[in-house]
Amino acid sequence: MKSRLPLYVYSIMGLLSAKVLCRTQSNSEVYEPFLPTGLALRSAPSIDTKPFQEFTLDSTADTVATLDYGHEVAGVPWFEVTSLTGAVQLEIKYTEEFRGLEAPFADGPFLYGNQLGANFRVETLNVTHTGRTSAFLVQGGQRWESVRLLTEGAITFSKVGFEATFPNVNPEDEPGQFSSDDTRLDAIWKLGVRSTEASCIEQGTQPATWRIDHEKGARIASLRPIQSDKAPLIGNNTLEFETMIERGGLWWGMAWAIGSGGGIGLQITGELPEDTTFVNHNYTLSPRNTLQVTSGWGQVNQTTMPTYLLKTFDLPFSVREKVWYKISTTLNDGYLSASIDGVPIFNMSLTEYRVMFRGQLMPITLTGRFGLGAYMDQEAYYRNVSQYDQDGNMVYSSELTSEDTLLEYGVKTNLFTVCLDGPKRDRLIWLGDYYHTARIIGVSTGRFDMQRGMFDSLLGTQLENGMVSMNAPLGYEANTTLFADAYGLEDYQLLGLLSFYYFVRDSNDLSYVKENWEQFSLLVEWAIANINVTGDGLAYLTYGFTGPGDGASVNCMTVYALHSMTEVAQAIGDWGAVKRWTSAAKGLTEAIQQHLWNEKLGVFSLSPASPNDFSVSGTAFCISGKVATPTQITRSIKALDKLATGPGYIDSTQVDPASPTASYSPNTNGFLLSALYESGEYERGAKLIDTLWGPMVDDVRTSSGASWEYVLHDGTPGLGMFTSLGHPWGGAATYVLTEWAAGLRAAPGVGGFGFAEWVVAPEAGVRMGLRRASAHVPTAFDGILRAEWEMVGNGTLSVVIQAPAGTKGSFQYGAVSKHLCGRLEYKFTVEL
Ligand SMILES: *[C@@H]1O[C@H](CO)[C@@H](O)[C@H](O)[C@H]1NC(C)=O
Ligand SMILES: *[C@@H]1O[C@H](CO)[C@@H](O)[C@H](O)[C@H]1NC(C)=O
Ligand SMILES: *[C@@H]1O[C@H](CO)[C@@H](O)[C@H](O)[C@H]1NC(C)=O
Ligand SMILES: *[C@@H]1O[C@H](CO)[C@@H](O)[C@H](O)[C@H]1NC(C)=O
Ligand SMILES: *[C@@H]1O[C@H](CO)[C@@H](O)[C@H](O)[C@H]1NC(C)=O
Ligand SMILES: *[C@@H]1O[C@H](CO)[C@@H](O)[C@H](O)[C@H]1NC(C)=O
Ligand SMILES: *[C@@H]1O[C@H](CO)[C@@H](O)[C@H](O)[C@H]1NC(C)=O
Ligand SMILES: *[C@@H]1O[C@H](CO)[C@@H](O)[C@H](O)[C@H]1NC(C)=O
Ligand SMILES: *[C@@H]1O[C@H](CO)[C@@H](O)[C@H](O)[C@H]1NC(C)=O
Repeated sequence: MKSRLPLYVYSIMGLLSAKVLCRTQSNSEVYEPFLPTGLALRSAPSIDTKPFQEFTLDSTADTVATLDYGHEVAGVPWFEVTSLTGAVQLEIKYTEEFRGLEAPFADGPFLYGNQLGANFRVETLNVTHTGRTSAFLVQGGQRWESVRLLTEGAITFSKVGFEATFPNVNPEDEPGQFSSDDTRLDAIWKLGVRSTEASCIEQGTQPATWRIDHEKGARIASLRPIQSDKAPLIGNNTLEFETMIERGGLWWGMAWAIGSGGGIGLQITGELPEDTTFVNHNYTLSPRNTLQVTSGWGQVNQTTMPTYLLKTFDLPFSVREKVWYKISTTLNDGYLSASIDGVPIFNMSLTEYRVMFRGQLMPITLTGRFGLGAYMDQEAYYRNVSQYDQDGNMVYSSELTSEDTLLEYGVKTNLFTVCLDGPKRDRLIWLGDYYHTARIIGVSTGRFDMQRGMFDSLLGTQLENGMVSMNAPLGYEANTTLFADAYGLEDYQLLGLLSFYYFVRDSNDLSYVKENWEQFSLLVEWAIANINVTGDGLAYLTYGFTGPGDGASVNCMTVYALHSMTEVAQAIGDWGAVKRWTSAAKGLTEAIQQHLWNEKLGVFSLSPASPNDFSVSGTAFCISGKVATPTQITRSIKALDKLATGPGYIDSTQVDPASPTASYSPNTNGFLLSALYESGEYERGAKLIDTLWGPMVDDVRTSSGASWEYVLHDGTPGLGMFTSLGHPWGGAATYVLTEWAAGLRAAPGVGGFGFAEWVVAPEAGVRMGLRRASAHVPTAFDGILRAEWEMVGNGTLSVVIQAPAGTKGSFQYGAVSKHLCGRLEYKFTVEL
């Protein structure tokens, strides 16, 4: 989910140091756990923490512990209990920003997709023994945690933490580094690194979210209805299964989209026996012995994901825990009905309802897939599921008792090493988001193995026309993502090609390129096929995320991707491709100049139909794609003043900055940030870093140490608490600071691949007011490339560069250019 668009409501080397790996368990490497640094003990959450120490919660004293991990962490929660006065119930909350601890559902729930992790951010535990108690589901991303004692008694904890699901490495221990005399900029540099560390996960590190019992079937707790990739997309049908409630009730779905999208929800709350019902159960939200029918994503509205409680029905008899029941649900001709053990529960028409779907009021969708789940703190077994079409033919059946069930329902331990859009939500492999992630990896973690994993996972989803999935979910096989909305944002394909280019540029991994060249070239050919050579010569995409399918953004992005992939083709000597792609880029550049440049306004038009509108992405890609002439660069950047209405640039002239939900995208502003520096607009770039990225590090209540998905006009996170504060797509400042503020970058063209040839150019950093900066980058050679410069008096710059053997480069500052070759270290001063 992104607050992406009306149409698709959404509807990424072993440099890892040995100390990170502390023990080996079931053949998989386990990371150092995440431990809290701060603790506050009160009767309510408190931001005023002291250093962590052993603590006690007592019903007659402090009942709430607030735990601060200092920055974004993730994993399976655990608690070391040293003493306990009988069984106690604990309500645990997880959140990225502090105020989530004060909200009923913390910063969740995250019901958008099957995200191979917790959908809910509040969970209740019945602690019955001293020693270690663990929760089951991964909590994907949080800085804060609270533990509330719900019952009488007392409990003492020696330790609390998370079994880490991404490598627990501090940004300052990564091979790529940046530092300067501006500590705020240093903190901003780390934002992209932390979000990338948290979003890039290794194969086999995210545990399965369902448990299979060979007799009792699938045990599901606190998870949204999840779909089988073998079950059909179907309209009229009957679904049957056996179920046994372990706690609370169960929640299943009819007519849901696979992997994403909501649908019709049916939630049974059982008789709620006093002994096994948590004391914080909300009887208003989930009343005893009822079946609730919902449309959307759950039971409560969540930011951009509307949910409707359509009707609540009484169950015909008291439904008990630990007893098997057979449930049948039928969708037929607009009617939904259900029965339990053959006794009808309800029969209702769905056709008169209108619900918000993809930004519009629409009838309820009656076609889709069924899903099996359990609402917050509910737990149930499901077995013997079968589904029949309207003629009574069995179209699906499974006993759910075999381990294969996990893969079929996309709930198996992750199959690929990939980079997600963010660690807590959506936890989907969003291809377009990977552009910034890929560039951040190049200047920080150097985890090129993760980049290869990412591309391996995507190539398995490639269609015959070349396109790959734009948002593959984690737990399913790659080729099961062939569902309707996985290819919709077509410019994500182009961003995918650009990510691949930056991976190759930074790693020079030409053997990976050669092994997979056929598939990557096919995607380039797809991009070329979008160009209407018999018409106006522009590229036409069905739908773009960054702008209209025929507009400046996707057209200039196409040119940028073609130029970039032409370099890759040159590197492996595919001269046929070089010729074809160069020519396609040239033709498209001419068409853009002819049809999308508005000479009067001095802007690249949003689209041929909206010639007077323009966007941040269009401006950025026309510059980075080298479509814009020097005059056009100057004019189109000047025109951006019209979009500068808050902490950054609003996406386009068609967005109303006064709308309360209008937010500033560090993603699109990130495309621009790089383009500004490429254009010599250093002061403008520095201001953007200050106003848009600064707020991400300024306030303890909202800072996660990682970059954000959206920013509001007042510098707080956009999209409500639902937003991700661990989004590498918001991390462009990281690579821009390395490449421009420190001025350390690969030389242009194939010569710069893997940093064989590099440039040290501190002018931008000096003009930004820095007196000192240093950067390290991993290279394809034996070692790290390091550059450090300092103003040592009026107009004198002292420079030290350490370069791996086999590389060469240049120092550039205005008219000064020094050729640096044949040494491992270069030390010199320059009079400016
Ligand atoms: C469901 O059945 C009704 C009546 O038989 C039919 O009119 C309708 O088209 C069917 N709907 C779907 C989605 O197949
Ligand atoms: C907690 O565990 C105790 C001991 O097993 C049990 O008696 C009690 O019913 C449990 N409470 C809940 C809410 O499950
Ligand atoms: C229980 O749920 C209802 C309905 O969503 C909500 O209005 C109420 O605030 C909830 N109560 C608590 C204590 O969370
Ligand atoms: C969610 O919001 C919509 C639109 O405002 C409203 O109609 C609906 O009743 C809300 N759903 C719930 C469960 O409160
Ligand atoms: C539900 O009601 C409709 C309309 O009365 C009827 O046609 C249909 O057969 C009923 N379904 C069940 C399962 O009773
Ligand atoms: C599944 O259902 C079939 C037929 O209803 C029954 O024979 C079988 O025992 C059931 N399987 C399990 C695991 O209960
Ligand atoms: C998906 O790939 C697996 C092997 O990875 C194969 O067994 C399966 O048949 C494929 N499914 C489809 C729908 O192509
Ligand atoms: C290309 O443009 C021409 C002229 O506008 C149009 O007739 C044709 O349908 C377009 N081709 C495609 C594939 O869109
Ligand atoms: C640097 O130059 C400025 C103006 O040219 C002068 O005022 C200042 O005293 C000089 N500082 C040093 C440390 O030489």
